[in-house]
Amino acid sequence: MNANTALDKPVAVFLKIAPDLEPQDLQDIADVATSTGISGIIATNTTLSRDGLSSAYAAQAGGLSGQPLFEKSTRILAQLSALTEGKLPLIGVGGVGSAQQAYAKIQAGASAVQLYTAMVYYGIGLAGDIARGLDELLARDGFANVAEAVGTKREEWL
Ligand SMILES: Cc1cc2nc3c(=O)[nH]c(=O)nc-3n(C[C@H](O)[C@H](O)[C@H](O)COP(=O)(O)O)c2cc1C
Repeated sequence: MNANTALDKPVAVFLKIAPDLEPQDLQDIADVATSTGISGIIATNTTLSRDGLSSAYAAQAGGLSGQPLFEKSTRILAQLSALTEGKLPLIGVGGVGSAQQAYAKIQAGASAVQLYTAMVYYGIGLAGDIARGLDELLARDGFANVAEAVGTKREEWL
């Protein structure tokens, strides 16, 4: 990652993207984001897709968040990581509810992870649980810090 990024700017501006994007959309976003000096990209927001859902509520309108979003948003994150080649910090979000899932986002290309829906179910303590779990996972795999693990399993999501 380029060290001269978000923290060096007076105001950090992050772009947050949808998971329901075609490959050409992602390419266009990566091109514009890397050429304009944006601070980073957050991947992803909620999805309009209901693929694989059997819930009685599946037909309700609006963006879907939480576990059903995990794989889709992580694939988009990995694609974006490949397209931006480490030039921008990426923030992974979508369906993260455990240290393993936060670690998967990091290894798919995220430098940081955002929680949202899982906090509703597990409460504010989830952030600390995930941070401690991440420490163990990083140590288990021989990484000294998060930065060393970023993108190390990206290919598995492409
Ligand atoms: C009720 C609700 C409101 C949200 N409002 C915003 C918002 O105002 N701005 C934003 O960037 N994302 C918003 N999001 C998207 C979340 O920040 C997050 O990207 C998405 O829910 C996927 O993460 P999750 O599976 O951990 O919830 C909202 C999500 C939900 C469920």
